[in-house]
Amino acid sequence: MEIVIAGSPRKGMYSDRLAQAYAEITGAEIIYARNVKVGPCHGCGWCRTKGNGICVQKDDMPEILEKAKKADKIAIFSPVYWWQMTAQTKLVVDRLYPMGEEDWKGKTLTVVMNGAAKDDDNEFRLLNGQFQEMADFINIGLRFLGVDTTDDEAFAKALEKVRVLAAEE
Ligand SMILES: Cc1cc2nc3c(=O)[nH]c(=O)nc-3n(C[C@H](O)[C@H](O)[C@H](O)COP(=O)(O)O)c2cc1C
Repeated sequence: MEIVIAGSPRKGMYSDRLAQAYAEITGAEIIYARNVKVGPCHGCGWCRTKGNGICVQKDDMPEILEKAKKADKIAIFSPVYWWQMTAQTKLVVDRLYPMGEEDWKGKTLTVVMNGAAKDDDNEFRLLNGQFQEMADFINIGLRFLGVDTTDDEAFAKALEKVRVLAAEE
C-alpha cells in the first residue's frame, strides 16, 4: 500500500496532476495536504516520550499517521517554493515525527518536486540532497525526481517522467 502526500495549494494544477498520474499507475491513495487540518509541530517531544506516539494536538494527523505507518511506500509531491517544499507539505512531513525506526523500516520514499526551473537546475539538486539526508537518517531508500512545469509543454515532459517512475515500482 502506498500513500501520496500532495502538497500543492493549487487544486488541479501541475503538482496535483502529476500526483494523480502517479496514483493512477501505482494505486496509491492521495492525501491532499491543503484539505486536512494539520497544525505545525510544536517540537515538545511529547509524541516520542510520554505520548507514546500520540501528538498533543487534536487534528487530522492521527489518521494520516496510521496510513503512513501501514504504507510500505510513501510519496511526496510538492511544488518548489523558495527552493523548498511548500508550507502545506512541510506541515505534514514534520508531523511524521512520531514515527520511529520500526515504523520506517522497509519503506521507500518517492519525492517529486515541480518548479519553474529546468530539470537539471541547482534547486532540484539541492532538494534531492536534502531529501537524501532525510532518507539516510531514517534509513530508507529514496527516489527523487525534480521536474520543470513552467508551461504546458514542460509539463507534458514532466508527466511522462512521472509515469515512468510510477511504472518502475
Ligand atoms: C511562493 C512561490 C515560490 C516559488 N519558488 C520557486 C522556486 O524557488 N523555484 C522554482 O522553480 N519555482 C518556484 N515557484 C514556482 C512554482 O514552483 C511553479 O509555478 C509550480 O509549477 C507550481 O506548481 P502547481 O501548479 O502545482 O501550483 C514558486 C512559486 C510560488 C508561488
